[in-house]
Amino acid sequence: MKILVLGSGGREHTIIWKLKQSSLHSKIYCIPGNGGISEDAICEPSIKISEFEKIYDFILENKVDLVVVGPEQPSVDGIKDYLSKYNIAVFSPTKTQALLEGSKVFAKKFMYKYGIPTADFVVCNTYEEAKKMLKEMFKKYPEGVVVKADGLASGKGAVVCDTIEKAEGVIYDIMVKKIFATAGEKIVIEKKLKGIEISLIACCDGETILPLTHSQDHKQIYDGDKGPNTGGMGAYSPLGFISKKLEEKIYNQIIKNFLLGIKDSYLNYCGIIYFGLMIENLAKENEQPYVLEFNCRFGDPETQVILPLLKNDLLEVIISTIEKKLKDIKLSFYNKSACCVVMASKGYPQEYETNKEIFGLEEVKKLKDVIVFHAGTKKVKNRYFTSSGRVLGVVGIAENLKEAVERSYFAVEKINFENKYYRKDIAKKGFSIMESIYDNI
Ligand code: AMP
Ligand code: GLY
Repeated sequence: MKILVLGSGGREHTIIWKLKQSSLHSKIYCIPGNGGISEDAICEPSIKISEFEKIYDFILENKVDLVVVGPEQPSVDGIKDYLSKYNIAVFSPTKTQALLEGSKVFAKKFMYKYGIPTADFVVCNTYEEAKKMLKEMFKKYPEGVVVKADGLASGKGAVVCDTIEKAEGVIYDIMVKKIFATAGEKIVIEKKLKGIEISLIACCDGETILPLTHSQDHKQIYDGDKGPNTGGMGAYSPLGFISKKLEEKIYNQIIKNFLLGIKDSYLNYCGIIYFGLMIENLAKENEQPYVLEFNCRFGDPETQVILPLLKNDLLEVIISTIEKKLKDIKLSFYNKSACCVVMASKGYPQEYETNKEIFGLEEVKKLKDVIVFHAGTKKVKNRYFTSSGRVLGVVGIAENLKEAVERSYFAVEKINFENKYYRKDIAKKGFSIMESIYDNI
C-alpha cells in the first residue's frame, strides 16, 4: 500500500513512525515533510499542502492509495471533498465536518444543541452587538470572559480577558481592525472557566467513536505555564488524576452526546476528533468536564506521547475508520507512561532563529525507549539544521511517569544546537495535581 501523509511537524513524524510499524504498508510519502521525516518517508518539499491540484498530480504519479492529513487547514479547506471526487481514500473529515474546528460559532451551537457541557456563550455578528453583549456577559461573569474569533486564526483567535477593558480592545482588534480578516467576522464571547485543561483525542467513523488515552499539553512558553502561548511545549500521557468516575462523566456527557449529535445532524463525522477539555473542581463532588474546543485532527505534541503507547496497528485503525468498520476495532495501550519535551529555537513563539546545526542525534538514537520526532529540521548532506520554532519532540517512555520524564530530559541534554530552549517542568503540573488530590483525601 502507498500512503501519503500531509504535513511537516512532530505530529506528522509520529504518524509516519507509527505507520512504518504496520505490517500492511509498502511505501510512505510525505508532503512537504522535514529533515527527520525524510529518514522515514519520501518527502516532496516543493509542494505546499494548500496546493490540492499538485497533490492530486503527485498521487497519480506515485499511485498513492491512501492520504492521511495531519494539520487542520487542508481539512477545513476541503481536501477530502476535493480528492474524493477522484475516488481517493482520505483520512480526514470533510469540509463541513471540519467546521467543528473551523467555526467556533458552529462548534458552540452544536454543543448547545446536543447537551455537550461547554462554557455559557453568546454569538455576535456585528461590532455594535459585541460591545453590548460584552457588558451583559461581564455583568453575569465578573471574573472574566473569553473572546473567540469564529474562524481559524493560527491558534491566536481565543483571548482570555479578565477585565472588560481588555475584552473591548480584543473585540475592536478582531471586528474593526480585522486582524484575523474574515475569520473575525463573527465572534463568540463565553464565560471564563477555571480548572485543569486536558486533551482527549478519539477516532470516529460516524457510527462508532473510540477514545485514545488522555494527555496534557503545556501551551505556554515558560515554566509554570507563564508567558505567551505556543503550539505546545511538551506533553505527557496517561493522566494519573483522571478517575474512573470522571472518565465515565466524560464518556456519558461528552463522547456519547457528540456521537448522538453527529448522527442526528447528519454530520456523520469521520476522522480524528480532538476534545480540548477543562475539568472544573477536579476530584471534588462537583467535578465537571467542559469542552473548550474541538479540533479535527491529532493534537501536537499530544500525538507524540499517545501513538507510542498505542498497541494497535495505526494503519488498520485508519482503514477501519474510512470503511466505517471501527466497531470491529478495540484500542489498547501499553501500561506505560510517555513524556515529550519540545526543544525550540531562541525567540519562539515570536521571531526565532533558524539554521543552527543540531548535534547529538546519533548518540540519542542509541538510547533505549527514547524517540526523537522532528518538528522543524532540515537535512543537508547528513547534517541536521533547525528550520522552525519548534525543532524536536524528545519522547521518553517508561514504566511510570517519573522515569519517562527523566528519560526524555536525559536525552534532551544530549542534544545541542545554539540557543536551544525547552521547558524544564514538563509533567510537573501532573505530579502537583496528584499531590493536591492525595492531600485532600
Ligand atoms: P480554543 O482556541 O477555544 O481552544 O482556546 C485556546 C485556549 O484558550 C484554550 O486552550 C484555553 O487555555 C483557553 N480557553 C478557551 N476557552 C476558555 C474558557 N471558556 N475558559 C478558560 N479558558 C479558555
Ligand atoms: N496541542 C494543542 C493542539 O494540537 O491544538
